Amino acid sequence: MAALQQCINPRCEKQFAIEEVLYACPACGEPLDVEYDWNKIAPPKSLKHFEQYWQQRSNPHRRSGVWRFHDLLPFLPIEHCISIGEGQTILQQAHRVAPYTGLKNDRLFLQYEGLNPSGSFKDNGMAAAFSHGAFIGAKKAACASTGNTSASLAIYAACTGLMQSIIFIGSGKIAYGKLSQALDYGAKTIQIQGDFDDAMARVQQVAKEQSIYLVNSVNPFRIEGQKTIMFRVLEALHWEVPDWIVVPGGNLGNSSSFGKAFIELHRLGLISRVPRLAIINAAGANTLYRLYEQEGLRWNGGQCDKTLTQKFFERMTAEGRKASTIASAIEINRPVNLAKCLRALDFCNGVVREVTEQEILDAKAQVGAGGLGCEPASAASIAGARKLVAEGIIEKSERVVCILTGHQLKDPNVTVAYHTLEQQGVNEFANRPISVENDLERIVASL
Ligand code: F0G
Repeated sequence: MAALQQCINPRCEKQFAIEEVLYACPACGEPLDVEYDWNKIAPPKSLKHFEQYWQQRSNPHRRSGVWRFHDLLPFLPIEHCISIGEGQTILQQAHRVAPYTGLKNDRLFLQYEGLNPSGSFKDNGMAAAFSHGAFIGAKKAACASTGNTSASLAIYAACTGLMQSIIFIGSGKIAYGKLSQALDYGAKTIQIQGDFDDAMARVQQVAKEQSIYLVNSVNPFRIEGQKTIMFRVLEALHWEVPDWIVVPGGNLGNSSSFGKAFIELHRLGLISRVPRLAIINAAGANTLYRLYEQEGLRWNGGQCDKTLTQKFFERMTAEGRKASTIASAIEINRPVNLAKCLRALDFCNGVVREVTEQEILDAKAQVGAGGLGCEPASAASIAGARKLVAEGIIEKSERVVCILTGHQLKDPNVTVAYHTLEQQGVNEFANRPISVENDLERIVASL
């Protein structure tokens, strides 16, 4: 077997066939990776290898920003890989946003994942997980979501007709752009009384009990698809490795997959240098920041301090502490990919920061003013980069890629509230609409 699933625990490393549906190691409970036997599948000799596919854009698999990198995620034969046109994204050199972060004008790049079919980066991972689900013959797929995973699952189900989508959302904040997508695409939508962390726990139980295919990022195939975000960043930089990747952290699937991408590229000799990774939490949902920066939790060669995390979560339960942030996409306090994320931080010499609501909102307004709108969670990356430049951790002359994870139109309420708030001076970059009588002279005078 050229590809298989393998437990990430170095003391276990049990292996399972690709056809098995597993979300954790049955032996030790740790997460699973998809691993490849590169002696059986010849890996590309250089990243330039992928340039041959640029001329084959009429082939949907070569046009897809996920499947044109199939050679680096070959867990299924390509004819079984489903594409709805994901990954047609751009890396923008953001000279108008750079000054806000403190970086030199030509040093900031925004990876705009809002251009995906469902408007967020989730489609990268969904293309892979949905393909696997369809391959093993699942008829129903489910996820818990703060909104984007559910929109992504729903669009794949609607476009292909291969599986019924069932989504679990909390009863708190869900941006209307995202909810409207799931409803429009025909997802069976279960709104449970609780938050995302509650919905996540429930959907895992339900999926197990009802044999429903789970597409949250505990599914190792999701992580495979999301590796391609990094491949496209490198592609846009002519295969040069940037100095920093900055990404918002919620359930920590993205950061986990970026780490895996760089571990594999390095192991295969396709890159000689590894970028540093910065993961940015919202201050109201800062589990990773607290565990990593304050409590000193580390990957530790795969032997993470389990007692530390257990005590941390017990304290959280005892205090009744719930995640709360305007960046509803990352309103998560119990990230399911913590272990894999620690591995990524270890390999990429990473740092974690938290940013306040105001920092997120101001950064979002700056991204918007620079021409690529994003949703609040995405702007955490810009706010975090700014913080790290101010601290001197990121140097002004370093090349920094911030991931804009979701489209501006996902959450228009937050944007409009920012710009129209009555209270003067709170929102530094507010662009207030001017209200004028329907009178030509007055309209002209107001210009
Ligand atoms: N940004 C956006 C726009 C998101 O939707 C999410 C996660 C994240 C960042 C965090 O990414 O989980 O890989 O650390 N949204 C999930 C959802 C949880 O249900 O849509 P992560």
